[in-house]
Amino acid sequence: MPPIHSPQTQQPAVKLYDFHPPVEDFRSAVLRGLSLPQKSLSPQFLYDKRGSELFDAICQLPEYYLTRTEMSILRANAADIAAALGDRALVELGSGSSQKIRILLGAAPQAKTYVGVDISRQHLQEACAALMADFEGLDAIAVCADYTQPLPIAAIPELQNQPTIGFFPGSSIGNLEPAEVIAFLKTVAVLGDLIVGVDLKKPAAILEPAYDDAQGVSAAFALNVLERINRELGANFDLGQFEYQARYNDAAGRIEMAIASLSDQTVRLGEAEISFRQGETLRTEHSYKYTIDEFQLLAMEAGFKPVQVWTDADQLFSLHHLKQM
Ligand code: AVI
Repeated sequence: MPPIHSPQTQQPAVKLYDFHPPVEDFRSAVLRGLSLPQKSLSPQFLYDKRGSELFDAICQLPEYYLTRTEMSILRANAADIAAALGDRALVELGSGSSQKIRILLGAAPQAKTYVGVDISRQHLQEACAALMADFEGLDAIAVCADYTQPLPIAAIPELQNQPTIGFFPGSSIGNLEPAEVIAFLKTVAVLGDLIVGVDLKKPAAILEPAYDDAQGVSAAFALNVLERINRELGANFDLGQFEYQARYNDAAGRIEMAIASLSDQTVRLGEAEISFRQGETLRTEHSYKYTIDEFQLLAMEAGFKPVQVWTDADQLFSLHHLKQM
């Protein structure tokens, strides 16, 4: 069923539950990450407002096959997936601009409650408001939180006394280390069944351009975190002195994304001074790729039973329905 467009121009009010970690957490996490032998930052810090916009732009790139392939799988199997959802409240983890859920909501008019969980507050609120405007009778609730942390379900009245199902598309699960995947799945088991998007293993010749595109959007997305640190934490990163890298590590089965220093340099962050050697890298993300069997094994280790997998004809991407064992 297509979305019902409401004639009203004013956006409906969206209920927001705000569990955003305080700025102090950002400062201490950045300082901690920059003092490690392999400097690194949590990928969640990439998603300020500008970062979320740049990530949306990545999803439209010709090289970034993940989004359009997952959307095509959702479209081709919408009725099947909608049947798996039933009338449970849909909780989307890392909902971003909530585009994919539109395909499922279009096929599942029985779904009346949608909860989007994302770290980017404004982006999330706008996305939930747009959903409420477009899907009549849908209650779209915004939960601003780091979805890798236990979800405070008890603090969300709309989720009391009704069954839920978790939706975790986009292969964001690939940004966790495999051991973290198991811990994460155990944590989100409170939601009941899960529908999870997982990018599949494939040649580096396809993977590397997807993460280092010709227009430089992926590079801008990664480098934006330095601008964020400058703006929010009073640092003085000179963006011209850093470059973005994305390489596929075949043995580990992951794309490794980093920002490399182009010179020996010292960066000030408040009172702290951080030195970089020429060529030294600051890791921004890992993006793991799995075979269907590899991912199902991880899910089973976390106590889930794989019940169904949907893929595209080229076997680029997979969507897994996992049930509680
Ligand atoms: C959010 N996540 C699934 C993306 C990925 O494909 O690993 C993040 C990303 N970073 C750069 N391009 C895409």
